[in-house]
Amino acid sequence: MRYVIVGFGIVCAVALMLGAARGPRVQVIAHRGASWDAPEHTFASWDLALERGADWIEQDLHLTRDGRLVVVHDDTLERTARGPAADCTGPVAEKSLAQLQRCDMGSWFNTEHPERAHARFVGARIPTLDSVLTRYATRAKFYIETKWVDGAPPMEEALLGMLRAHRLAGPGADYARVLVQSFSVTSLERLHALDPALRLVLLIEDPIPPDSLDAVLARVARIAVGIGPARGLTSAHLVERAHAARLFVHPYTVNAPATMRYMLRINVDGMFTDRPDLLRGLLDP
Ligand code: G3P
Ligand code: CA
Repeated sequence: MRYVIVGFGIVCAVALMLGAARGPRVQVIAHRGASWDAPEHTFASWDLALERGADWIEQDLHLTRDGRLVVVHDDTLERTARGPAADCTGPVAEKSLAQLQRCDMGSWFNTEHPERAHARFVGARIPTLDSVLTRYATRAKFYIETKWVDGAPPMEEALLGMLRAHRLAGPGADYARVLVQSFSVTSLERLHALDPALRLVLLIEDPIPPDSLDAVLARVARIAVGIGPARGLTSAHLVERAHAARLFVHPYTVNAPATMRYMLRINVDGMFTDRPDLLRGLLDP
């Protein structure tokens, strides 16, 4: 009996060591929601992402002319908005929230992807960040991106105010339920200065020269907890050096199962994907 208990203890210890080596479970980040199957950045897309096992739902942010935070990817409306031209074409930053709310953010998807079209997508309205944080208050974690637009007013103070209003920042807040990502170091530095407890992620779209990689990652780690490299930049070496700098690695955007498997082999900590169901299926078959 004693040998059985000792043996069981050894098995548990090895399992714990292996678990520690792999870190926490790989995170499924629904890129603009389950945006393969529903129009990006709509409630339909985030609802579907959560139904399909996403750990995080993503929001790309822009500021309207009247200072409201809205969730939309592009700087301009042409690709995903349909409606009166005066309201639904041109730069997001030049429209008021009232104007944007006249736009249909779902119909483009049905035209673009007839094989995945659905009548319920028609008429989807542009979500404010406030409405997203309210709708998913108790059932989602939010992976929010500050989009940088040349000449547009900064959005970091407005974002922090919104997070505080939803008790996702500030005294007693659950900081573990939010990550804020950006390609802009300036945006992340502003956020870190406003609230050093925010968990920040630097998105990386250009290769980092090998001889400066460790120095760059060390600088990033002063303000951020992770990096989000483009999938083509994501190598075993980058993951290993990022982990050495105590940064997690969440590559974007990974939709092909073969690429998902590659990312798992090189030990990434999570992935942005339009297809959270596929990644969840690989992780929990
Ligand atoms: O935020 C990760 C990824 O979404 C960055 O690219 O252009 O889809 O926002 P983009
Ligand atoms: Ca994004």
